[in-house]
Amino acid sequence: MKLIVSDIWKSYNGNAVLKDCSFSFDSNNTYALMGPNGSGKSTFLRICSLLEEPDKGEINYFSGENILKKDIGLRRRITLVLPKVGMFNTTVLKNVAYGLKVRGMGRKEIEERASNALEFVGLTHKRDQNALTLSSGEAQRLGIARAIVIEPEIIFLDEPTASIDMKNTKIIEDIIIKMKEQKGTIIILTTHDIAQAERLAEKILLMNEGKIISIPPF
Ligand SMILES: Nc1ncnc2c1ncn2[C@@H]1O[C@H](COP(=O)(O)OP(=O)(O)OP(=O)(O)O)[C@@H](O)[C@H]1O
Ligand SMILES: [Mg+2]
Repeated sequence: MKLIVSDIWKSYNGNAVLKDCSFSFDSNNTYALMGPNGSGKSTFLRICSLLEEPDKGEINYFSGENILKKDIGLRRRITLVLPKVGMFNTTVLKNVAYGLKVRGMGRKEIEERASNALEFVGLTHKRDQNALTLSSGEAQRLGIARAIVIEPEIIFLDEPTASIDMKNTKIIEDIIIKMKEQKGTIIILTTHDIAQAERLAEKILLMNEGKIISIPPF
């Protein structure tokens, strides 16, 4: 899978955030998008993950040479992880299972896949706890488990370790590395930590005046 962003413009209340922004994302890479507060990183991720429409320009996903239609099928192949958004007031396991249940999967398979996803993020011991009572670090890991259980090909992570301590940051970084190595997932994340960007990503990108530039330029 490949993502090509072409000439995207996005304004809020007359202020242009993304200005003729273009970039191509290829498989087998992790990308870290950096840039100051308010530069448009989260906006860019929401547009790429099809949660929001750009004012102008195109987002196209390709499988080989074929453009993928923006249907429910594509929406299952890409996912955006936001901290603590959309957690349900129920157990950790049920939070992970939900995404599979709505797809009409059988109970046995749901249970198995949800358990594997929890194992992957190291939350097996929390499976019966209410998701709303998790710590920030655990909640972030649950967000990742909920994303990977549907086995997406591209995962967008918006500041996956913001306000998370060193120990949990290391755990989350290891999960991100494992996603790429074991599942081949394309990962596009934002961070304010240049050392983290270097640890995780082959390509470091900068949101600069509404455009994405690659550092060093390729
Ligand atoms: N729904 C919205 N309505 C109005 N303005 C918005 C909306 N979403 C984003 N903005 C504005 O767009 C600009 C870019 O915001 P965005 O959240 O994309 O920045 P960011 O690079 O992710 O910043 P941070 O590093 O603080 O997370 C900001 O000025 C923000 O206030
Ligand atoms: Mg942001």
